[in-house]
Amino acid sequence: MEITVTVNGQPYTRTVEPRLLLVHFLRDELGLTGTHWGCDTSNCGACVVLMDGVPVKSCTVLAVMADRHEIRTVEGLETSDGLDPVQQGFRAEHGLQCGFCTPGMMMTARWLLDRNPTPSDEEIREALSGQLCRCTGYENIVRSVRWAAEHETAAHAVPDAIPDQRAGTSAPRTRSDSEVQA
Ligand code: FES
Ligand code: FES
Repeated sequence: MEITVTVNGQPYTRTVEPRLLLVHFLRDELGLTGTHWGCDTSNCGACVVLMDGVPVKSCTVLAVMADRHEIRTVEGLETSDGLDPVQQGFRAEHGLQCGFCTPGMMMTARWLLDRNPTPSDEEIREALSGQLCRCTGYENIVRSVRWAAEHETAAHAVPDAIPDQRAGTSAPRTRSDSEVQA
């Protein structure tokens, strides 16, 4: 079947077998290997991508189901302005060890912050509850998402509303991309 899927803003037309899973379409047809393939049974969440803005486990979605839909993968997080705050948060708060779960975690975190810019730790944990990490114990992942939320909120705040350096907190100010990437 011929399908056209828009991935990270770019349309791709391919002829695929009806049984091809979206995760394999992304990885094998398009070479977007940032989306990881783990359990293949809808348990681990490593394969999460956004489909029309909603997280889906791409190992449970057929590629043909994505025809004429918008997919966003971890490769689509970074923009010309630099790393997404979620990516910066995982870096700043050491939200990964082996990194296998990280793409899915970050895509779900992106979805969460788009819906709820100031989530509580409980809401972060609930949003990520469909995803497994074998390394971190989750604490740093929650901290990473909180970092992203705090910095994103601060970046969007009008200057008069920005708290005065918030001394003693983990998020004293927004880092520039050059600082984060240094
Ligand atoms: S590979 Fe899709 S949920 Fe594990
Ligand atoms: S960092 Fe290794 S599985 Fe999460």
